[in-house]
Amino acid sequence: MQAIIHDGYGDIGVLKLRDLPAPEPGVEQVRIRVRAAGLNRADILQRRGKYPAPPGWPADIPGLEYAGEVETLGTGARRWRLGDRVMGLVGGGAQAEYVVVHQDETLAIPTGLSFTQAAAIPEAFLTAWDALVTRGKLQSGDRVLIHAVGSGVGTAAVQLARRLGAMTIGTSRNQAKLDQAKAIGLDEAIDTSAGGFAARLSAPVNVILDVLGGPVLAENLEALAPRGRLVMLGFLQGPKAELSMEPMLRKRLEIVGSVMRTRLLAERIPLVGEFAARVAPWFSDPPSRGIRPVVGATFPFGSIGEAHAAMEEDRNFGKIVLVW
Ligand SMILES: NC(=O)c1ccc[n+]([C@@H]2O[C@H](COP(=O)([O-])OP(=O)(O)OC[C@H]3O[C@@H](n4cnc5c(N)ncnc54)[C@H](OP(=O)(O)O)[C@@H]3O)[C@@H](O)[C@H]2O)c1
Repeated sequence: MQAIIHDGYGDIGVLKLRDLPAPEPGVEQVRIRVRAAGLNRADILQRRGKYPAPPGWPADIPGLEYAGEVETLGTGARRWRLGDRVMGLVGGGAQAEYVVVHQDETLAIPTGLSFTQAAAIPEAFLTAWDALVTRGKLQSGDRVLIHAVGSGVGTAAVQLARRLGAMTIGTSRNQAKLDQAKAIGLDEAIDTSAGGFAARLSAPVNVILDVLGGPVLAENLEALAPRGRLVMLGFLQGPKAELSMEPMLRKRLEIVGSVMRTRLLAERIPLVGEFAARVAPWFSDPPSRGIRPVVGATFPFGSIGEAHAAMEEDRNFGKIVLVW
Protein backbone atom coordinates (compact mmCIF):
# COMPACT_ATOMS: atom_id res chain seq x y z
CA MET A 1 0.00 0.00 0.00
CA GLN A 2 0.97 3.63 -0.31
CA ALA A 3 1.43 5.52 2.94
CA ILE A 4 2.84 8.78 4.25
CA ILE A 5 5.91 8.06 6.34
CA HIS A 6 8.31 10.08 8.46
CA ASP A 7 11.75 9.84 6.91
CA GLY A 8 13.26 11.54 9.96
CA TYR A 9 11.78 14.43 11.95
CA GLY A 10 11.81 18.13 11.20
CA ASP A 11 10.47 20.29 8.39
CA ILE A 12 7.96 19.34 5.70
CA GLY A 13 10.61 17.57 3.58
CA VAL A 14 10.72 14.60 5.99
CA LEU A 15 7.26 13.48 4.87
CA LYS A 16 7.40 10.92 2.04
CA LEU A 17 4.85 8.82 0.17
CA ARG A 18 6.16 5.22 0.17
CA ASP A 19 5.09 1.66 -0.65
CA LEU A 20 4.72 -0.49 2.47
CA PRO A 21 3.07 -3.85 3.25
CA ALA A 22 -0.59 -3.42 4.20
CA PRO A 23 -1.35 -4.22 7.88
CA GLU A 24 -3.16 -7.51 8.60
CA PRO A 25 -6.31 -7.49 10.78
CA GLY A 26 -6.15 -9.56 13.99
CA VAL A 27 -8.93 -10.99 16.15
CA GLU A 28 -12.09 -8.81 16.06
CA GLN A 29 -10.28 -6.28 13.88
CA VAL A 30 -11.21 -4.97 10.45
CA ARG A 31 -8.99 -3.62 7.70
CA ILE A 32 -10.30 -0.41 6.16
CA ARG A 33 -9.51 0.92 2.71
CA VAL A 34 -8.91 4.56 3.58
CA ARG A 35 -10.47 7.02 1.11
CA ALA A 36 -9.83 10.22 3.07
CA ALA A 37 -8.04 11.22 6.27
CA GLY A 38 -8.20 14.42 8.30
CA LEU A 39 -5.02 16.37 9.04
CA ASN A 40 -4.44 17.52 12.63
CA ARG A 41 -2.12 19.82 14.55
CA ALA A 42 -0.81 16.67 16.20
CA ASP A 43 0.57 15.61 12.80
CA ILE A 44 2.73 18.74 12.74
CA LEU A 45 4.04 18.07 16.25
CA GLN A 46 4.70 14.43 15.32
CA ARG A 47 6.56 15.52 12.18
CA ARG A 48 8.79 17.69 14.38
CA GLY A 49 9.50 14.69 16.64
CA LYS A 50 7.51 16.11 19.56
CA TYR A 51 4.48 13.84 19.65
CA PRO A 52 5.26 10.16 19.08
CA ALA A 53 2.47 7.66 18.49
CA PRO A 54 1.30 5.88 21.65
CA PRO A 55 2.28 2.18 22.05
CA GLY A 56 0.41 -0.19 19.75
CA TRP A 57 0.03 2.23 16.84
CA PRO A 58 2.31 2.64 13.78
CA ALA A 59 5.26 4.79 14.83
CA ASP A 60 6.18 6.18 11.42
CA ILE A 61 2.83 6.52 9.62
CA PRO A 62 0.96 9.64 10.83
CA GLY A 63 -2.79 10.09 10.78
CA LEU A 64 -5.33 10.19 13.61
CA GLU A 65 -8.59 9.74 11.69
CA TYR A 66 -9.94 8.12 8.56
CA ALA A 67 -13.00 7.49 6.43
CA GLY A 68 -13.24 4.52 4.10
CA GLU A 69 -14.71 1.08 3.46
CA VAL A 70 -14.38 -2.19 5.36
CA GLU A 71 -12.13 -4.29 3.10
CA THR A 72 -11.13 -7.36 5.19
CA LEU A 73 -12.67 -8.93 8.30
CA GLY A 74 -10.31 -10.38 10.92
CA THR A 75 -11.11 -13.57 12.83
CA GLY A 76 -14.29 -13.13 14.86
CA ALA A 77 -15.11 -9.71 13.38
CA ARG A 78 -18.88 -9.85 12.79
CA ARG A 79 -20.02 -6.31 13.38
CA TRP A 80 -19.46 -5.00 9.84
CA ARG A 81 -19.87 -6.31 6.29
CA LEU A 82 -17.38 -5.87 3.48
CA GLY A 83 -17.93 -2.53 1.79
CA ASP A 84 -19.54 -0.83 4.81
CA ARG A 85 -18.67 2.88 4.93
CA VAL A 86 -16.95 3.73 8.21
CA MET A 87 -14.95 6.46 9.94
CA GLY A 88 -13.02 6.72 13.16
CA LEU A 89 -10.12 7.73 15.37
CA VAL A 90 -6.79 5.93 15.62
CA GLY A 91 -3.61 6.57 17.58
CA GLY A 92 -1.65 6.71 14.30
CA GLY A 93 -1.41 5.14 10.86
CA ALA A 94 -4.47 6.65 9.12
CA GLN A 95 -2.52 8.46 6.39
CA ALA A 96 -2.19 5.27 4.39
CA GLU A 97 -4.28 3.28 1.92
CA TYR A 98 -5.18 0.77 4.65
CA VAL A 99 -5.60 0.96 8.40
CA VAL A 100 -6.51 -1.79 10.89
CA VAL A 101 -8.83 -1.06 13.82
CA HIS A 102 -10.91 -2.95 16.36
CA GLN A 103 -14.43 -3.48 15.02
CA ASP A 104 -15.96 -1.61 17.99
CA GLU A 105 -13.96 1.61 17.59
CA THR A 106 -15.20 2.43 14.10
CA LEU A 107 -18.41 4.32 13.31
CA ALA A 108 -20.84 4.14 10.41
CA ILE A 109 -20.58 7.18 8.13
CA PRO A 110 -23.84 9.13 8.48
CA THR A 111 -26.13 8.84 5.47
CA GLY A 112 -25.49 11.35 2.73
CA LEU A 113 -21.94 12.28 3.70
CA SER A 114 -18.98 11.78 1.36
CA PHE A 115 -15.73 10.15 2.49
CA THR A 116 -14.14 13.60 2.51
CA GLN A 117 -16.83 15.01 4.80
CA ALA A 118 -16.72 11.94 7.03
CA ALA A 119 -12.95 12.21 7.45
CA ALA A 120 -13.50 15.68 8.94
CA ILE A 121 -15.69 14.30 11.75
CA PRO A 122 -13.88 11.96 14.17
CA GLU A 123 -11.10 14.04 15.73
CA ALA A 124 -12.99 17.34 15.74
CA PHE A 125 -16.43 16.14 16.79
CA LEU A 126 -15.45 13.40 19.25
CA THR A 127 -13.00 15.78 20.94
CA ALA A 128 -15.55 18.59 21.08
CA TRP A 129 -18.38 16.32 22.25
CA ASP A 130 -16.29 14.79 25.02
CA ALA A 131 -14.96 18.21 26.07
CA LEU A 132 -18.35 19.93 26.14
CA VAL A 133 -20.51 17.21 27.62
CA THR A 134 -18.33 14.83 29.65
CA ARG A 135 -15.54 17.14 30.81
CA GLY A 136 -17.32 20.50 30.65
CA LYS A 137 -20.77 19.31 31.85
CA LEU A 138 -22.40 21.79 29.48
CA GLN A 139 -26.08 22.44 30.18
CA SER A 140 -28.76 23.96 28.00
CA GLY A 141 -28.71 27.73 28.56
CA ASP A 142 -25.01 27.79 29.50
CA ARG A 143 -22.62 30.21 27.86
CA VAL A 144 -19.57 28.51 26.33
CA LEU A 145 -16.41 30.24 25.14
CA ILE A 146 -14.61 28.43 22.31
CA HIS A 147 -11.08 29.61 21.56
CA ALA A 148 -9.75 29.37 17.96
CA VAL A 149 -13.35 28.94 16.89
CA GLY A 150 -12.37 28.56 13.21
CA SER A 151 -10.29 25.44 13.94
CA GLY A 152 -11.45 21.91 13.24
CA VAL A 153 -12.32 21.41 16.90
CA GLY A 154 -13.82 24.91 17.17
CA THR A 155 -16.17 24.53 14.21
CA ALA A 156 -17.40 21.21 15.65
CA ALA A 157 -17.81 22.66 19.15
CA VAL A 158 -19.91 25.64 17.97
CA GLN A 159 -22.39 23.36 16.26
CA LEU A 160 -22.59 20.82 19.08
CA ALA A 161 -22.94 23.47 21.77
CA ARG A 162 -25.69 25.21 19.84
CA ARG A 163 -27.48 21.91 19.34
CA LEU A 164 -27.24 21.32 23.09
CA GLY A 165 -28.98 24.64 23.72
CA ALA A 166 -25.94 26.67 24.80
CA MET A 167 -24.99 30.23 23.84
CA THR A 168 -21.70 30.22 21.92
CA ILE A 169 -18.91 32.79 22.07
CA GLY A 170 -15.82 32.32 19.90
CA THR A 171 -12.38 33.88 19.53
CA SER A 172 -10.15 34.12 16.48
CA ARG A 173 -7.35 36.38 15.29
CA ASN A 174 -9.04 36.45 11.89
CA GLN A 175 -12.29 38.40 11.31
CA ALA A 176 -13.13 36.38 8.18
CA LYS A 177 -13.10 33.18 10.25
CA LEU A 178 -15.39 34.79 12.82
CA ASP A 179 -17.83 35.70 10.04
CA GLN A 180 -17.75 32.10 8.80
CA ALA A 181 -18.30 30.85 12.35
CA LYS A 182 -21.41 33.03 12.64
CA ALA A 183 -22.78 31.30 9.57
CA ILE A 184 -22.60 27.96 11.42
CA GLY A 185 -24.23 29.28 14.58
CA LEU A 186 -21.74 31.34 16.57
CA ASP A 187 -23.63 33.86 18.73
CA GLU A 188 -20.85 36.22 19.88
CA ALA A 189 -17.56 36.77 18.05
CA ILE A 190 -14.39 38.23 19.59
CA ASP A 191 -11.52 39.24 17.32
CA THR A 192 -8.33 38.64 19.32
CA SER A 193 -5.91 39.95 16.69
CA ALA A 194 -5.10 42.80 19.10
CA GLY A 195 -5.20 40.44 22.13
CA GLY A 196 -7.62 40.22 25.06
CA PHE A 197 -11.07 38.67 25.33
CA ALA A 198 -12.34 38.54 28.95
CA ALA A 199 -13.16 42.24 29.19
CA ARG A 200 -15.06 42.05 25.88
CA LEU A 201 -17.48 39.30 26.89
CA SER A 202 -21.09 40.46 27.23
CA ALA A 203 -21.29 38.27 30.39
CA PRO A 204 -19.17 35.61 32.14
CA VAL A 205 -19.17 32.10 30.68
CA ASN A 206 -19.93 28.71 32.25
CA VAL A 207 -17.61 26.58 30.13
CA ILE A 208 -14.43 27.31 28.14
CA LEU A 209 -12.81 25.02 25.57
CA ASP A 210 -9.21 26.18 25.45
CA VAL A 211 -6.55 25.24 22.92
CA LEU A 212 -4.32 28.28 23.54
CA GLY A 213 -2.79 27.35 26.90
CA GLY A 214 -0.68 29.04 29.55
CA PRO A 215 -0.57 32.65 28.30
CA VAL A 216 -4.38 32.96 28.45
CA LEU A 217 -4.99 30.94 31.62
CA ALA A 218 -5.40 33.95 33.92
CA GLU A 219 -7.83 35.55 31.47
CA ASN A 220 -9.76 32.29 31.18
CA LEU A 221 -10.22 32.21 34.96
CA GLU A 222 -11.36 35.84 34.83
CA ALA A 223 -13.90 35.01 32.12
CA LEU A 224 -15.53 32.13 34.01
CA ALA A 225 -18.72 32.54 36.03
CA PRO A 226 -18.92 30.99 39.52
CA ARG A 227 -18.62 27.16 39.27
CA GLY A 228 -17.36 27.49 35.70
CA ARG A 229 -15.41 24.71 33.96
CA LEU A 230 -12.24 25.19 31.89
CA VAL A 231 -11.46 22.28 29.57
CA MET A 232 -7.84 22.24 28.34
CA LEU A 233 -7.36 20.64 24.94
CA GLY A 234 -4.18 22.17 23.53
CA PHE A 235 -1.31 24.62 23.92
CA LEU A 236 -1.08 26.60 20.70
CA GLN A 237 0.50 29.49 22.64
CA GLY A 238 2.52 27.28 24.98
CA PRO A 239 1.91 25.29 28.17
CA LYS A 240 3.39 27.56 30.86
CA ALA A 241 1.56 30.07 33.05
CA GLU A 242 2.23 32.19 36.09
CA LEU A 243 -0.91 33.54 37.73
CA SER A 244 -2.91 34.03 40.88
CA MET A 245 -5.04 30.98 41.64
CA GLU A 246 -7.32 33.07 43.84
CA PRO A 247 -10.25 33.09 41.34
CA MET A 248 -10.31 29.27 41.44
CA LEU A 249 -11.27 29.28 45.11
CA ARG A 250 -13.45 32.35 45.10
CA LYS A 251 -15.50 31.17 42.10
CA ARG A 252 -15.14 27.41 42.83
CA LEU A 253 -13.80 26.75 39.33
CA GLU A 254 -12.82 23.44 37.76
CA ILE A 255 -9.92 22.95 35.34
CA VAL A 256 -9.82 19.65 33.51
CA GLY A 257 -7.56 18.37 30.74
CA SER A 258 -8.44 15.96 27.96
CA VAL A 259 -6.72 14.19 25.11
CA MET A 260 -8.05 11.66 22.62
CA ARG A 261 -4.91 10.10 21.23
CA THR A 262 -3.62 8.22 24.25
CA ARG A 263 -6.96 6.74 25.25
CA LEU A 264 -7.00 2.97 25.47
CA LEU A 265 -9.37 0.82 23.44
CA ALA A 266 -11.47 0.24 26.56
CA GLU A 267 -11.95 4.02 26.83
CA ARG A 268 -12.49 4.61 23.13
CA ILE A 269 -15.25 2.04 22.72
CA PRO A 270 -17.79 3.63 25.12
CA LEU A 271 -17.09 7.10 23.71
CA VAL A 272 -17.64 5.84 20.17
CA GLY A 273 -20.82 4.06 21.29
CA GLU A 274 -22.18 7.19 22.93
CA PHE A 275 -21.32 9.29 19.87
CA ALA A 276 -23.00 6.79 17.51
CA ALA A 277 -26.17 6.79 19.59
CA ARG A 278 -26.47 10.47 20.50
CA VAL A 279 -24.55 12.60 17.99
CA ALA A 280 -24.23 10.74 14.68
CA PRO A 281 -27.98 11.05 13.90
CA TRP A 282 -27.68 14.86 14.05
CA PHE A 283 -25.58 14.83 10.86
CA SER A 284 -28.68 13.70 8.96
CA ASP A 285 -31.02 16.33 10.43
CA PRO A 286 -32.22 19.27 8.31
CA PRO A 287 -29.76 22.20 8.07
CA SER A 288 -31.84 24.35 10.45
CA ARG A 289 -30.96 22.09 13.41
CA GLY A 290 -28.43 19.60 12.05
CA ILE A 291 -24.65 19.59 12.37
CA ARG A 292 -22.18 19.37 9.48
CA PRO A 293 -18.48 18.60 9.13
CA VAL A 294 -16.67 21.73 7.96
CA VAL A 295 -14.07 20.94 5.29
CA GLY A 296 -11.89 23.98 4.70
CA ALA A 297 -9.53 22.45 2.15
CA THR A 298 -8.67 19.11 0.55
CA PHE A 299 -5.27 17.93 -0.71
CA PRO A 300 -4.23 14.72 -2.47
CA PHE A 301 -2.09 12.49 -0.23
CA GLY A 302 0.77 13.17 -2.64
CA SER A 303 0.61 16.85 -1.66
CA ILE A 304 1.06 16.19 2.06
CA GLY A 305 3.67 18.96 2.33
CA GLU A 306 1.27 21.57 0.97
CA ALA A 307 -1.39 20.38 3.42
CA HIS A 308 1.02 20.80 6.36
CA ALA A 309 1.98 24.26 5.12
CA ALA A 310 -1.67 25.32 4.93
CA MET A 311 -2.22 24.21 8.52
CA GLU A 312 0.97 25.83 9.82
CA GLU A 313 -0.05 29.10 8.16
CA ASP A 314 -3.53 28.93 9.79
CA ARG A 315 -5.19 29.26 6.38
CA ASN A 316 -8.08 26.88 7.00
CA PHE A 317 -11.53 27.47 8.43
CA GLY A 318 -12.54 24.00 9.61
CA LYS A 319 -10.69 20.84 8.65
CA ILE A 320 -8.00 20.02 6.13
CA VAL A 321 -8.66 16.61 4.57
CA LEU A 322 -6.27 14.39 2.59
CA VAL A 323 -7.81 12.31 -0.20
CA TRP A 324 -6.49 9.38 -2.25
N1 LIG B 1 -6.94 17.18 23.35
C1 LIG B 1 -7.35 16.58 22.25
O1 LIG B 1 -7.76 15.43 22.26
C2 LIG B 1 -7.30 17.34 20.96
C3 LIG B 1 -7.87 16.81 19.80
C4 LIG B 1 -7.84 17.58 18.62
C5 LIG B 1 -7.21 18.80 18.64
N2 LIG B 1 -6.64 19.25 19.79
C6 LIG B 1 -5.98 20.55 19.84
O2 LIG B 1 -6.92 21.52 19.46
C7 LIG B 1 -6.24 22.59 18.81
C8 LIG B 1 -6.91 22.85 17.49
O3 LIG B 1 -6.67 21.73 16.67
P1 LIG B 1 -7.27 21.70 15.21
O4 LIG B 1 -6.72 20.52 14.51
O5 LIG B 1 -8.72 21.84 15.30
O6 LIG B 1 -6.58 23.03 14.64
P2 LIG B 1 -6.68 23.81 13.27
O7 LIG B 1 -7.90 23.41 12.54
O8 LIG B 1 -5.39 23.73 12.59
O9 LIG B 1 -6.91 25.31 13.78
C9 LIG B 1 -6.10 25.89 14.74
C10 LIG B 1 -6.39 27.41 14.74
O10 LIG B 1 -5.86 27.95 15.94
C11 LIG B 1 -5.53 29.30 15.75
N3 LIG B 1 -4.17 29.50 16.23
C12 LIG B 1 -3.03 28.90 15.81
N4 LIG B 1 -1.98 29.33 16.51
C13 LIG B 1 -2.47 30.22 17.39
C14 LIG B 1 -1.86 31.04 18.38
N5 LIG B 1 -0.55 30.99 18.63
N6 LIG B 1 -2.66 31.86 19.09
C15 LIG B 1 -3.99 31.94 18.86
N7 LIG B 1 -4.62 31.19 17.93
C16 LIG B 1 -3.85 30.35 17.20
C17 LIG B 1 -5.64 29.59 14.26
O11 LIG B 1 -6.86 30.24 14.06
P3 LIG B 1 -6.99 31.83 13.91
O12 LIG B 1 -6.55 32.14 12.52
O13 LIG B 1 -8.45 32.00 14.12
O14 LIG B 1 -6.17 32.48 14.96
C18 LIG B 1 -5.71 28.19 13.65
O15 LIG B 1 -6.43 28.17 12.45
C19 LIG B 1 -4.77 22.19 18.71
O16 LIG B 1 -4.08 22.74 19.80
C20 LIG B 1 -4.83 20.69 18.86
O17 LIG B 1 -3.64 20.16 19.37
C21 LIG B 1 -6.69 18.56 20.93
